[in-house]
Amino acid sequence: MSFEVEYMLCLLLAVSPSLVQSQGHVIDKPVTELCLTCICEAISGCNATRICTSPEKGTCGIFRITWAYWVDAGKLTIDGEHPESERAFINCANDPHCAANLVQNYMKKFNQDCNDDGEMDCHDYARIHKLGAYGCQADLPYNYQSVFDECIENYEDQGLE
Ligand SMILES: *[C@@H]1O[C@H](CO)[C@@H](O)[C@H](O)[C@H]1NC(C)=O
Repeated sequence: MSFEVEYMLCLLLAVSPSLVQSQGHVIDKPVTELCLTCICEAISGCNATRICTSPEKGTCGIFRITWAYWVDAGKLTIDGEHPESERAFINCANDPHCAANLVQNYMKKFNQDCNDDGEMDCHDYARIHKLGAYGCQADLPYNYQSVFDECIENYEDQGLE
């Protein structure tokens, strides 16, 4: 490989993550739309009212995203807002599209077989979303689990998922 090519590759690798973040683009989306729907049903009833339910931890928007989750998911922003600006987190988490991209990034980063069934699927994403990347084997809260299960079964009955 010539020096110029190597140099360009290094530049691209060094530059692209920040481009991805600052423009709010997500390259790779492991979570299906149906799965996103069932996660938001379980966590907020897909209520897109722009609110944060817990002032201390954040938990904003349709996916009830916390500030730490937003950081782990690459600090995506909307409308070219700077990630360090005061409302960057709240504005993204309260925007359904930006929030969905946060979920995609988070799952891309932390995907794992939480329920140990040999597959990486929506059941694992739902656990990672609610319990975090480092405790996803734990029991889910009853309400979250039951709304999620009902949603997924509903789609499976229709031959979707
Ligand atoms: C959505 O959440 C807001 C704020 O908590 C609430 O006032 C509203 O009734 C909810 N909408 C639905 C359809 O549940």
